[in-house]
Amino acid sequence: MVVELHALVQRAQSDVDGASSLDDLEEIERTFIGKKGELTQLKKTLGQLAPDERRAAGQSLNEAVSDIANTVRVRRITLAAAAEAEQLRAERLDLTEAVSDLKRGHLHLVTQARDRLEDVFVGMGFTVAEGPEVETAWYNFEALNIPEWHPARGTFDTIFVDLGEPEEVMMRAHTSPVQIRTMENQEPPIYIVAPGRTFRTDTADATHLPAFNQIEGLVIDRGIGLGDLAGTIDSFVKAFFGHEVKTRLRPSYFPFTEPSAEFDISTPSGDWLELGGCGVVHPAVLQNCGIDPEEWQGFAFGFGIDRLAVMRYQLDDIRELVNNDVRFLSQF
Ligand code: PHE
Repeated sequence: MVVELHALVQRAQSDVDGASSLDDLEEIERTFIGKKGELTQLKKTLGQLAPDERRAAGQSLNEAVSDIANTVRVRRITLAAAAEAEQLRAERLDLTEAVSDLKRGHLHLVTQARDRLEDVFVGMGFTVAEGPEVETAWYNFEALNIPEWHPARGTFDTIFVDLGEPEEVMMRAHTSPVQIRTMENQEPPIYIVAPGRTFRTDTADATHLPAFNQIEGLVIDRGIGLGDLAGTIDSFVKAFFGHEVKTRLRPSYFPFTEPSAEFDISTPSGDWLELGGCGVVHPAVLQNCGIDPEEWQGFAFGFGIDRLAVMRYQLDDIRELVNNDVRFLSQF
């Protein structure tokens, strides 16, 4: 009987090892040590043995049962873990979201132009200055040598703000007020450019916008004259547009510069395009800012950044810059 038991336990062990599922394992357990299992059947034969044989056989039998039970227990832990892992795998929710490549936008054409202008001027030794978009008559006109009675006030098509005295507060009509603010706050020498938004009552059409951008330049130093102005404009234009582009100054009039000029750039077809206004800073403007015109002189210039973008990219209509049509904007 002991030999028989030994073989039985070995068979049980190899069956248990080969069990591929918990159900399988239970079936095997039942076959050997279940109510009708092989070992249970053997127990029933104990009665046929002599009493002392019976004791030894009974003990062997019990040991065999507990050996098999142990093997089953160990195997069950392994199979249960595998079953749980398989269930987790099967029930796993795939929450990953397929995201197509993120489309990055880019800076607006006018912002790009403004950044490039700043870069060119900073490279020439200028610093960047800024001023408010809402101004008083002093900064927009008065200090720039445009008194209240002056006809030039009319040419600025100013948008007034309903604040304080009539025609006292306004959207700045040009960036020239930043000249005044800088000279009031800074000792010469001064080398600044002031880019920013400006406003006029113009109706939007192919060449005008009521809100547009200008960049102002101001230099105050000793012994500065018209030649420095012409040279600076030429250097800037060549750096921005290319070395083949020529510049010229045409006599003009601004109350805050004397002499004054419009400056033009050459086109490949041999025409001239007007870019902006400029001139030698009027002594009255220096005096308004507490700067002695006998000691300091300077020049100033100003031009439209939007117009510059229109020229550079040969746009048909300046309004494209504010229509916000992505098909247009994404080209630049
Ligand atoms: N502020 C002038 C304008 O907007 C341009 C300008 C700037 C002219 C500086 C001369 C000097 O028309």
